[in-house]
Amino acid sequence: MPGKGTPGRQARLAVIGGDGIGPEVIAVAADVLAAASHRHGLDLALDWWDLSADRYLRDGVTITGDERDRLVRDYDGALLGALGDPRVPDNAHTRDILLGLRFYADLYVNFRPCKLLIPALSPLRDPDPATDIVFFRENTEGLYTGLGGRFKAGTSEEVATQESLNTYPGVERIVRAAFEHAAATGRGRVTMVDKANALVHEGALWRRVFAEVGAGFPDITQDAMYVDAMAMDLVRRPERYEVVVTSNLFGDILSDLGAQVTGGLGLAPSGNINPGSWALFEPVHGSAPDIAGRGIANPLAAVGCVALALEYLEMHEAAADVDECIAASLRDGVTTPDLGGSAKTTEVGDWMAARLRD
Ligand SMILES: NC(=O)c1ccc[n+]([C@@H]2O[C@H](COP(=O)([O-])OP(=O)(O)OC[C@H]3O[C@@H](n4cnc5c(N)ncnc54)[C@H](O)[C@@H]3O)[C@@H](O)[C@H]2O)c1
Repeated sequence: MPGKGTPGRQARLAVIGGDGIGPEVIAVAADVLAAASHRHGLDLALDWWDLSADRYLRDGVTITGDERDRLVRDYDGALLGALGDPRVPDNAHTRDILLGLRFYADLYVNFRPCKLLIPALSPLRDPDPATDIVFFRENTEGLYTGLGGRFKAGTSEEVATQESLNTYPGVERIVRAAFEHAAATGRGRVTMVDKANALVHEGALWRRVFAEVGAGFPDITQDAMYVDAMAMDLVRRPERYEVVVTSNLFGDILSDLGAQVTGGLGLAPSGNINPGSWALFEPVHGSAPDIAGRGIANPLAAVGCVALALEYLEMHEAAADVDECIAASLRDGVTTPDLGGSAKTTEVGDWMAARLRD
C-alpha cells in the first residue's frame, strides 16, 4: 500500500475513539497495536484525542484549526473508531473532523482491501477463496466536493445541482497509486471503473489518464469497466479483480459491495492516505448506536486498521502478524455474535493481544 516513505521503528499515532462503538473497538485496536509493538520492539507512541459528539455537545466545538494543525504536524497518522450520533442529526462534527481532515491533509487515496479470509463468511454461494481485491477510491474530488447548489429551495420549483469535479492531477495521482501498488505487491490486473458512456466528460479524462499511466506498467493487465457492469461482476466473479481504481462516488459504493462479498462490515478496514505525508485509518462500519455499550461490537475491522497503519508505517512484519491474528481469530471462532461467536469485544482483543505477546 502507499506508505509513509520512511521505514523505521518509531512513530506517533493519534487515537480517536469517536462515538458509539468507536471507543470500544478502538480500545481493542490500541491493545493489539501495543502488543504488536512490544513483540517487534517498535517505538510507537499513542495519544488519545477526544474528538466526538460528546465533546461537541459539551463544548460546542467539533475540531479547532489548531487541533487539525497539530494532528497533521505532530503525528504520523491517526486511528479513528467511528463518528455519528443520533443527538447530532446534521452530522456537523463528522463533517468537520472526518471530511475536514480528509481535505486538509489531502488524503487522496481511500485504500479499501477486501480479502475473503474464511469462505463461509461470504454471502455468495460457492465463493472463490482466492478473492482478494484492493479498491483505490479517489477521496478528494468527484461528487463529494460540495459544488452545486439549490435554487428555489423548499418550493415546488426547487432545482438542485451537484457537480462532479475531476482534475488531471487528481485523477493521475490516484491511478498512479493503484498501478504502483499492483506493481509493488505482484498483483497482475488493474481495473478502472467509470460510467464513460453516460458521464462522457469525466469518463474521457479518466480513460485518457488510465491509458497514459498504464503505459508505464506494460506487465499489468488493464481493463476499463462501466460501473453497472462492475457491480454485477463483483457479485458474479469477484475473484477476477485484484486492484480496482475509481472515482469517489463509485468507489464508495463498490468498496462496500466488495466488503460485503468478503465477510461484511465487521471485518472491513480502510485507510485515507496521502502517501509519504499523513494517513487516517478507520473501520468501514459506523458508530452502530444500536449496539453501543453492550460489549458485543466486533473489533476486527478496527484491528484491521492497525495492520494497515503498520503497513503504512512500513513496519511490515508487525503488520503481517496482526493480519495473521485476525485470520486466527476467525479460524478458531474467537469472534463476536455478528460472526457467529460468543466472545465479547474485549475478549477478542485480549485473545489477540495474548497471542501476539506469546
Ligand atoms: N466512517 C464513519 O465514521 C461512519 C461510517 C458509516 C456510518 N457512520 C455513522 O454511524 C451511525 C450509524 O450508521 P449506520 O447504522 O447506518 O451504520 P453502522 O455501520 O453503524 O451500523 C449498521 C449495522 O451494522 C451493525 N454493525 C456495525 N458495525 C458493527 C460492528 N463492529 N460489530 C457488530 N455490528 C456492527 C450495527 O449494529 C447496525 O446494525 C450514523 O450516525 C452514521 O452517520 C459513520
